[in-house]
Amino acid sequence: MNPLITAFDAQLHRDQVISLWQAVFGYEADHNAPLLVIDKKLEFGDGLFFVALDDQAVIGTVMAGYDGHRGWIYSIAVSPNYRKQRIGSTLLAFAERKLSEIGCMKINLQIMEGNEAVENFYLANGYHTEKRISMGKRLPENIA
Ligand SMILES: CC(C)(COP(=O)(O)OP(=O)(O)OC[C@H]1O[C@@H](n2cnc3c(N)ncnc32)[C@H](O)[C@@H]1OP(=O)(O)O)[C@@H](O)C(=O)NCCC(=O)NCCS
Repeated sequence: MNPLITAFDAQLHRDQVISLWQAVFGYEADHNAPLLVIDKKLEFGDGLFFVALDDQAVIGTVMAGYDGHRGWIYSIAVSPNYRKQRIGSTLLAFAERKLSEIGCMKINLQIMEGNEAVENFYLANGYHTEKRISMGKRLPENIA
C-alpha cells in the first residue's frame, strides 16, 4: 500500500493518534502520556511529527527530533490491520528525509526492553545495532 504521509494536524489527527498509541504502546509512564507528548511536540514547533493516512484515517505515525547533533526517531507505529505493507518503512524513510533536509548526519533510536523483535524492522531499513547503555532522567517539574 502507498499511504499519504503528511504533517500531524491536531484538529484532524489528535484523537486518532492517541487511540493508536494507546492500542500499540499502552503507556504507563506519566511523561509518555499521549496527550502530553503531542502537546509538547506541537509547542516545540519543529514540524517533525508525521502521520500516514488511508483516506482520512490515521494508520501510522512517526515522530522525529533533531538537536543539531543527532536525529532521533520516536513513536513509529502502524495500525495492526495495516502492517507488513511497508507503511512503517515508508514512514521511517519520510522522517529520515526530513532529518536529512535539515542537516542531520546520523539518526539514533531506542527499542524498549520487551520489544526486541522490532530490531529486525530497523535492520531491514538499514540501521545497525550499536552497543550502548541507554540512560535517562525525568524532570518532574515539566510532567503534568
Ligand atoms: C514496527 C512497525 C512500525 C513496522 O510496521 P510495518 O508497516 O508492518 O513494517 P514494514 O511492512 O515496513 O516492514 C518492513 C520489514 O521489517 C520487518 N518487520 C516489520 N515489522 C516487524 C516486527 N514487528 N518485528 C520484526 N520485524 C519486523 C520485516 O522484515 C518486514 O519485511 P517483510 O514484510 O518483507 O517481512 C509495526 O510493526 C508496529 O507498529 N509495531 C508496534 C510499535 C513498535 O514496536 N514500534 C517501534 C518502537 S521502537
